[in-house]
Amino acid sequence: MGSLSNHKNHHDTNLMDQCDQVVVLMVPFPAQGHLNQLLQLSCLISSYKLPVHYVGSAIHNRQAKTRSNGLNPNDVAKIHFHDIPTPPFDSPPPNPNSSTKFPEHLQPVWDAMLNLRKPIGCYLQEISKKSRRVIIIHDPMMSVVVQEVSTIPNAESYAFNCLSAFSLVSLSSKALDKLFPIQLPKDLPSLEDYIPDKAQYFVSLQSEPSSYRDGDLYNTCRLIEAPCLDLLEKEEIVEKRKSWAIGPILPAKLSFKRQHKCLEWLDKHEPKSVIYVSFGTTTSLSDEEIKELALGLEKSKVKFIWVLRDADKGDVFDGKVRRAELPEGFEERVEGVGMVVRDWAPQPEILAHPSTGGFMSHCGWNSCIESITMGVPIAAWPMHSDQPSNTIFITEILKTGLVVREWTQRRELVKASTIQNAVERLMVSEEGDEIRKRAEELAATVRQATQEGGASRLELDSFIDHIMR
Ligand SMILES: *[C@@H]1O[C@H](CO)[C@@H](O)[C@H](O)[C@H]1NC(C)=O
Repeated sequence: MGSLSNHKNHHDTNLMDQCDQVVVLMVPFPAQGHLNQLLQLSCLISSYKLPVHYVGSAIHNRQAKTRSNGLNPNDVAKIHFHDIPTPPFDSPPPNPNSSTKFPEHLQPVWDAMLNLRKPIGCYLQEISKKSRRVIIIHDPMMSVVVQEVSTIPNAESYAFNCLSAFSLVSLSSKALDKLFPIQLPKDLPSLEDYIPDKAQYFVSLQSEPSSYRDGDLYNTCRLIEAPCLDLLEKEEIVEKRKSWAIGPILPAKLSFKRQHKCLEWLDKHEPKSVIYVSFGTTTSLSDEEIKELALGLEKSKVKFIWVLRDADKGDVFDGKVRRAELPEGFEERVEGVGMVVRDWAPQPEILAHPSTGGFMSHCGWNSCIESITMGVPIAAWPMHSDQPSNTIFITEILKTGLVVREWTQRRELVKASTIQNAVERLMVSEEGDEIRKRAEELAATVRQATQEGGASRLELDSFIDHIMR
């Protein structure tokens, strides 16, 4: 008898503890750069000893887990992954020959997400009954899906912006030239005139439900983005929303798995001698582009690691993937100088490696912030969406990179000679050395910001205090 009643008491205490708790729900948008940032944020918030639930389709939860880069597996193990039943969706391959680089083939998976509104609403109801307060942190592209938050008294939602503040300003208004003394390129894309109709429609659906949010989080640092953050915040003051710039949210100490062969390869080379080439998870290069890039890298004679992968499909576990062909004999000719990686690369670890001295990148914000944090200068080759504005931010505002090819020339084939020239300028020139020095100095500042008492750390502490109030 005694043990039974003890057991019961024990159970009640647990229930009370739980009802007393603040619970955090993460709702990511299913594209790698977004899944990744929300998982990083999950680990960061969980380090304050709050329960964190990562909520999405089984496929995307698995994608986030299996591709986690630089995160400590013990920290990831503390996150509660909650699979929401999702209707089947088409997962067509990307079109490497498309005239724009926008990943239109992902539209079916994004549209499928709209069906998650009801099940996530139910899950939210259920968890809110057992908690003191539920905090939803969602991608702005998932505002539709989390809108039931407005019907639950003890729930609040916060948008986590996976873009730079510079891009958010540049995509939403043209006020940039008032903030910075720079000449902006004339055809900097805005959401309206660049993104395909179907994706634009998807974005427009988010607009009304996004007004239910209580505040904004940014994966950027006030030390580098104060003017744009101030402007974004000015717009929100009217709505009485709070905001916090807490980036970079990449773990300060990377957890090195040290299994990937490219890290051992890097060990064999001189400090800052290798350029890392990768265009993220939403871009596929055509056969012609691959040929030019291969020849450009070869002619530069600079050491390189090139991640050559097709864009992700909606379901990355759906096996059939195009294997892009390299020029005849290329890999033999560059043996010892270059390495082509076709599997999932440990990007933060590569960027943090002392032998890495440059990054040829599409300038997705995830790649930019990792590069900024690791002090690696960028050779920018923007492909779509916010990438051209990130390129301006990196090359003209921070001055920690140079442009491979201008955005205005995006419809032309980038020739091997152009690539060779950009690689040589970044890796073996005085100009490149200066850019690299600035990138290293900036990294020291930015890294300081996330340490105890630093600018971003204080904002994160303040966000945690706010949700725990
Ligand atoms: C892309 O174009 C090349 C010819 O330039 C062709 O061989 C290839 O099949 C095309 N790929 C797709 C997916 O359409």
